[in-house]
Amino acid sequence: MAVTMDAIVSLCKRRGIIFQSSEIYGGLASTFDYGPVGVELKRNVKEAWWRAMVYERDDIEGLDAAIMMHPDTWAASGHLTSFSDPLVDCKQCRKRWRQDHLPSRWRVRLIANVDPESPSGGDVFVDVFAADYETAQKQAKQSKQWSSKAKGYWSVSEEPMKAPPACPECGGELTDPRQFNLMFKTCVGPVEEEAAVIYMRPETAQGIFVNFDSVMTTMRRKLPFGIAQIGKSFRNEITPGNFIFRTREFEQMELEFFCKPGDKCKAGERTDMEWWEHWKNERMNWYTRCGIRKENLRLREHEADELAHYAKGCVDVEYKFPIGWSELEGIANRTDYDLSQHEKHSGKTLRYFDQERGEHYVPYVIEPSAGADRAALAFLCDAFREEAVEGRESRRVLSLHYALAPIKCAVFPLLKNRPELVEKARGLALKMKKSFYTVYDDTAAIGKLYRRQDEIGTPFCVTVDVDTLTDGQVTLRDRDSMTQERMPIEKVEGVISDALKKAVIG
Ligand code: GAP
Repeated sequence: MAVTMDAIVSLCKRRGIIFQSSEIYGGLASTFDYGPVGVELKRNVKEAWWRAMVYERDDIEGLDAAIMMHPDTWAASGHLTSFSDPLVDCKQCRKRWRQDHLPSRWRVRLIANVDPESPSGGDVFVDVFAADYETAQKQAKQSKQWSSKAKGYWSVSEEPMKAPPACPECGGELTDPRQFNLMFKTCVGPVEEEAAVIYMRPETAQGIFVNFDSVMTTMRRKLPFGIAQIGKSFRNEITPGNFIFRTREFEQMELEFFCKPGDKCKAGERTDMEWWEHWKNERMNWYTRCGIRKENLRLREHEADELAHYAKGCVDVEYKFPIGWSELEGIANRTDYDLSQHEKHSGKTLRYFDQERGEHYVPYVIEPSAGADRAALAFLCDAFREEAVEGRESRRVLSLHYALAPIKCAVFPLLKNRPELVEKARGLALKMKKSFYTVYDDTAAIGKLYRRQDEIGTPFCVTVDVDTLTDGQVTLRDRDSMTQERMPIEKVEGVISDALKKAVIG
């Protein structure tokens, strides 16, 4: 059964994964807080990305740049002038919309019949919102106009016509579009004046570009090399939504990979376009290695009219979310645009000295840019399933990759009113915590405790029972197969550690 966004939202709320932000005050639209379980999931997503990008390669350095940057950064990057959305307002209900996100609106012509006894004369037009004309025709047939006519004598025009845009909520007239900059403004220092205005970064990438020369020099790097960064970004999105898919505060995991432009490469060196191909493959592989099913991932190449004027190519890694195929990550060949812009605006050279060629030039940049929240949402959607269990009610389970699972092991005493069992179980949980994240729980009956851990994706549960006190054995239960194995208490930590080590995302 296909997973719905409602099922994911409900799971997240019920199980301490993600909460509406500021909920006690009625919530702040489209902002979310990661609860005790969610914070672990997101940390694990970022950890898996960092491991793949920084630790397991020898051509990438890490960085943690400030969120607040010199305002000239945004003039150089183009965000001040062109990071905007076209907005329209409803003149009736005052609701604000992104013009390019308005649903299609069709004008369907109900053609007057040829029967002279028809109650009304001319054709009638009905305006409806629909993704395509066929659906619009069907909707028009449910309209008052259609049902008030002698149906048998009327027909629906086959010829598609676009209706003028209107408010999707109330059908009211819309204003002309205005450009709205998506950057959040704030002021540094105590004076609120234009000179003190700075912006919350709308992407982490610019922090990397402005540090390019410092990283290259201090780390004695030669091309090609990359700089990776994970951090918060802020965009005053007009139409955020779909849970954590599009929010105003989110986390990005970005790599800027600096390489030689194709015409500066010697035989055997990868060109910029070859690096772009390399990163497409690497990133697709990373998602599948983290457990996303191949059939739910695809690459979508940008059309010429979507492509920024400076970009040589861009693809989106798309995931089949419950809302449909949508962007998970973008991978662009940004040429020398960003570094050249910063050279121009800062007056500082951001060139690379190619010793072999005896030449200075601005490197090209390949940018795989992913969202940590969107990735977390994709992992949740892909891992969630509701399945029948033989002889019992169905169970909900998150089959997350072990490396992403928020909690690796839960330890329970079979009977919480037996202090010796509680003490043993607590002691085991505390000991195992040092090796991997383990929790102790005795707040429900054993069946319920298993179900709870299944729902948050805990790969292993260990139960201490009365026999443990005499035979020294515990029961190890596996999340996916639900099989249970008895083993000596002193062996269980090693067994779980081995399983987790084998599952490291490499
Ligand atoms: N430096 C390039 C850049 O920022 P982008 O396509 O605007 O490119 C990259 O953003 C990724 O950041 C997206 O693929 C998405 O995963 C994430 N992202 C962007 N806007 C977001 C938002 N409002 N909420 C959550 N994630 C977002």
